[in-house]
Amino acid sequence: MRGEFCVGSASFLSFTAMLLLIFVHVGSINTSTVPRGITMAKVNTSAYGQALGQSFIVPIQGLYTNDSTAPLGERAGLRQLYEFGLYSHCAYVNTTSGICTNHTVATKYEPYVAITSDMFLNYSQYSDAIFADTSFMDSSYLGSNSKAAYYFLLLGTIFAALALFTGVVKHTLAFFASTGLSIVSALFILIGAAIWTSIVKKSEGINSLVLAQGIPAGVTVSVGTGLYLSWAAFACLAVSVIPYMISCCTFRG
Ligand SMILES: *[C@@H]1O[C@H](CO)[C@@H](O)[C@H](O)[C@H]1NC(C)=O
Ligand SMILES: *[C@@H]1O[C@H](CO)[C@@H](O)[C@H](O)[C@H]1NC(C)=O
Repeated sequence: MRGEFCVGSASFLSFTAMLLLIFVHVGSINTSTVPRGITMAKVNTSAYGQALGQSFIVPIQGLYTNDSTAPLGERAGLRQLYEFGLYSHCAYVNTTSGICTNHTVATKYEPYVAITSDMFLNYSQYSDAIFADTSFMDSSYLGSNSKAAYYFLLLGTIFAALALFTGVVKHTLAFFASTGLSIVSALFILIGAAIWTSIVKKSEGINSLVLAQGIPAGVTVSVGTGLYLSWAAFACLAVSVIPYMISCCTFRG
């Protein structure tokens, strides 16, 4: 009976972790409710236009677009809010309407490229000067780390699924495999989530950037729900190791 209980709780934890990771993967792939609510990182540019206007003392016109369907990355106008997922990023003109990029496996987290490629050339040139030497602008660093983190999260997800499936086979050897798989998947999710946390924290440095006359730059980065879900998945996987291990010893197949 104790064995049954262990297998049950281990499977439940693996299943929960897998579900959470599936949600992490679908984050920001399109603008419908669930993917919309899950994102690794968010960039809010709402106050940037005003900051530019105040520091250059000229009216800033045509920086933003109100057209929610305007294509991304084609200098069609800045959006108020950018959300970054594992396969694409989405940009919103207000709290409800937006558009997402095409899906790319291991898409890079390059928030600076995302926002400046929507601006007209003169504004992206101003931005190059304003954001020079910030981590936010270091797209090669953020991009390569997010790409590596993606593969850790993907492999972690696959190993979590394998742990769940081997766990339902009631055999000592299978529980042994599940234990190993959940250890490996927990480790991979830990690495993936830690890398993502570190790059989002680094790019958050932009939140305190001030322009001339002490005006805040008006671009803010924040952590998305997807990152919290990744940490929750890690916790589930790490805890599931214990009941898998106990099942190993208590079940005689
Ligand atoms: C974006 O930032 C502005 C202020 O800079 C704030 O009023 C607004 O609520 C923010 N939007 C979101 C979706 O966080
Ligand atoms: C958001 O923008 C879209 C497109 O410009 C518009 O149709 C919609 O009414 C706006 N929604 C809000 C809440 O402002």
